Amino acid sequence: MYICLEGIDGSGKTTQIKLLESWIQKCGIDVLRVFEPTDNEVGKLIRKLLQNPDAINENFQITLALLFAADRTVLMRDITEAEALAKIVISDRSFYSSMVYQNDSEWIAEINKHAKQPDLVILLDINPETAVSRCDGMDSFEEQNFLASTAKKYLELADHQNFMVVNANNGINKVHDDIKRIVAHKLGMCI
Ligand SMILES: Nc1ncnc2c1ncn2[C@@H]1O[C@H](COP(=O)(O)OP(=O)(O)OP(=O)(O)O)[C@@H](O)[C@H]1O
Ligand SMILES: [Mg+2]
Repeated sequence: MYICLEGIDGSGKTTQIKLLESWIQKCGIDVLRVFEPTDNEVGKLIRKLLQNPDAINENFQITLALLFAADRTVLMRDITEAEALAKIVISDRSFYSSMVYQNDSEWIAEINKHAKQPDLVILLDINPETAVSRCDGMDSFEEQNFLASTAKKYLELADHQNFMVVNANNGINKVHDDIKRIVAHKLGMCI
């Protein structure tokens, strides 16, 4: 089982995935927690390039999209291995982040054709203003506008791809409870 959390920056993905990991472990199930970009060589390169102010220009975006796809291809091996051991894989972002952040979805789908589709995608839906208020050093209008347009794209994708949408404006515990309920249902567990 491959479960993924998606959402704009500051929506609470990292916070919630750690809570989800602890909860699944407490239920006696082995978990592999992963994140994109990864901390292997390609993922590190992506993180470095994302610091570059040129990262917004179109050519750079193409390079980044290819690197994300390459990073993900490596990650898929770990995921396949974990699934073979009956572990539950939980991931902070997935192929769908590329679909949302990059234009040309057909090309993105093509270069990611070796990526596994998550069995369950949970979208942390949040007001961009709230997300900005949670992130230090992110307060410009441009950033807020970008977050707002990304949040909108996420909701459109959620509609088409049957994501489970959680209201991430709520407090940490409420969001965690909502995620637990969705995951328990998917796993056929009672909570
Ligand atoms: N429900 C919540 N209510 C209030 N604060 C929260 C909530 N969830 C997370 N936070 C805080 O908001 C900040 C951003 O959360 P987090 O790092 O989990 O977001 P993220 O989605 O992983 O962001 P990024 O995409 O930038 O990695 C953190 O300081 C976290 O403690
Ligand atoms: Mg994070």
